[in-house]
Amino acid sequence: MMNNQDELHKPKFFGRRKGRTIRKTKNFLLENFLPRIRLSAGKKIDLPACFPEPKQKFCLEIGFGDGEHLAAIAQDCPQNGFIGVEVYQNGVANLLNLLTGIKEGDECGNADDISLLPDRTDNIRVFDDDVRLLFASLPSASFDKVYLLFPDPWPKKKHASRRFVNPENLQELARLIKKGGILQIATDHAVYKRWVMEQMRNNKDFVWTAKCSDDWRNPPADWHETKYQRKAIREGRKPVFFEYKRI
Ligand SMILES: C[S@@+](CC[C@H](N)C(=O)[O-])C[C@H]1O[C@@H](n2cnc3c(N)ncnc32)[C@H](O)[C@@H]1O
Repeated sequence: MMNNQDELHKPKFFGRRKGRTIRKTKNFLLENFLPRIRLSAGKKIDLPACFPEPKQKFCLEIGFGDGEHLAAIAQDCPQNGFIGVEVYQNGVANLLNLLTGIKEGDECGNADDISLLPDRTDNIRVFDDDVRLLFASLPSASFDKVYLLFPDPWPKKKHASRRFVNPENLQELARLIKKGGILQIATDHAVYKRWVMEQMRNNKDFVWTAKCSDDWRNPPADWHETKYQRKAIREGRKPVFFEYKRI
């Protein structure tokens, strides 16, 4: 629970936390299933202890949106543990739909009967708030990969300070990612493409892995499309896929 002092130091968040309505089934899942996989910030998190079985690697997805990418990579890699972070409650609820198979209009039934779909491993934990509130609780050099896919571009110059890729957040990510680990950033916005390249060029903790233009023009082989990626393509924008290695 936050006290007044914590509230004063809370970073300002400019995006949306809630849509106009959260439907009945989504609410049911947020109330009854999210607590089973929810992470809390405050004290240091022991990542291996978050999962019922030992995990080989740990990955973090920041701003998972509707959760399609997170759900898919977690299913591809049951041997790994995934931390997903999203402030937008409708997005979190959508991830819960994907994990449980319970869709809008389905009979909700008894809370104790909700479970992961049979083909899913229990390898996702969710922080449903601003990731910057979680950073201090995460152990250093603990992640093999961090995904930041289509972050809000805040294209206007006067909003540049809101962009997630900035020196302060990169310093935290450099602390969290193991040496040799990967920071994957995708964007479809011209202003943000230039911004990311500039921020990363000035950063001493990461090196760009691209050897030729195909390496950043095409998604990596194990890629899963996201909602914003599809929207960008529909609207005629070409996404780029930057991969940076922690040195
Ligand atoms: C443009 S959307 C992209 C969503 C998704 N990655 C995709 O590609 O479809 C950016 C998402 O990041 C989330 N977000 C922005 N800042 C965040 C923060 N500080 N912590 C957690 N989530 C954040 C927003 O709520 C939003 O859902």
